[in-house]
Amino acid sequence: MKIMICKDYDEVSKKAASIVIKEIKKNPDLKIGLATGSSPIGLYKNLIEAYQKNKISFKSVVSYNLDEYIGIDRSHPQSYYSFMYENLFKHIDMNDDNIHIPDNDIDRIDHLAEDYNQVLHDNQLDIQILGIGTNGHIGFNEPGTPLGNETFIVTLDEQTRMDNSRFFNSIDEVPKFAITMGIKNIMYSKKIVLIASGKEKAKVIHKMIKGKVTKNLPASILQLHPDCTVIIDEQAASKLK
Ligand code: GLP
Repeated sequence: MKIMICKDYDEVSKKAASIVIKEIKKNPDLKIGLATGSSPIGLYKNLIEAYQKNKISFKSVVSYNLDEYIGIDRSHPQSYYSFMYENLFKHIDMNDDNIHIPDNDIDRIDHLAEDYNQVLHDNQLDIQILGIGTNGHIGFNEPGTPLGNETFIVTLDEQTRMDNSRFFNSIDEVPKFAITMGIKNIMYSKKIVLIASGKEKAKVIHKMIKGKVTKNLPASILQLHPDCTVIIDEQAASKLK
């Protein structure tokens, strides 16, 4: 694991963006795994800016999102589909056909995981962007998830629903289920970049980097990935010393 400690969130976002920009310049057909949550918003802002300044194009970039809620429509403002269009896709020249976000159509619930997993089997990602939940989840792989899991439907932890309730009117509105890439899918990516900031992430970052690899802290598996970069601000790094 390569650890990069930045002054603040702004610097974290710029660092992460510079890695993605370099990869797109190297390979315009880049296959990139994308994350939601508040952590990657600054990275996406920097990518939009680079596009607007004609530094990069997303025309042939192909994206694959980590996860999606089940139980709300794609049109819901808090769906990850809406999040991605709002915070990135509508501002850049991505081809709609190159965007993959796990389908959450409840009528097809029995097929959702298998279908998305097939897409991931057919396409090894060049780079995967990750955030981390305060309980150590990546994507929606909650503590206790077998590390060999591939795409599956998950019952969300109460901690995760509580953390994410800040985006909804109340915790009752936070979906109870989601579809997520499994740990095995995430580990299959050639390169991984995890970003985190703020003191509320300090404890989990410490455990992820210094603790043992365990399914009770899914992000700890990243210690075993051959090319994983962790970009954090000083607050998130505060328990590492
Ligand atoms: C959600 C997402 C994760 C994300 C996590 C952290 O639960 N499913 O992919 O990493 O939130 O969110 P934040 O970056 O807002 O702390």
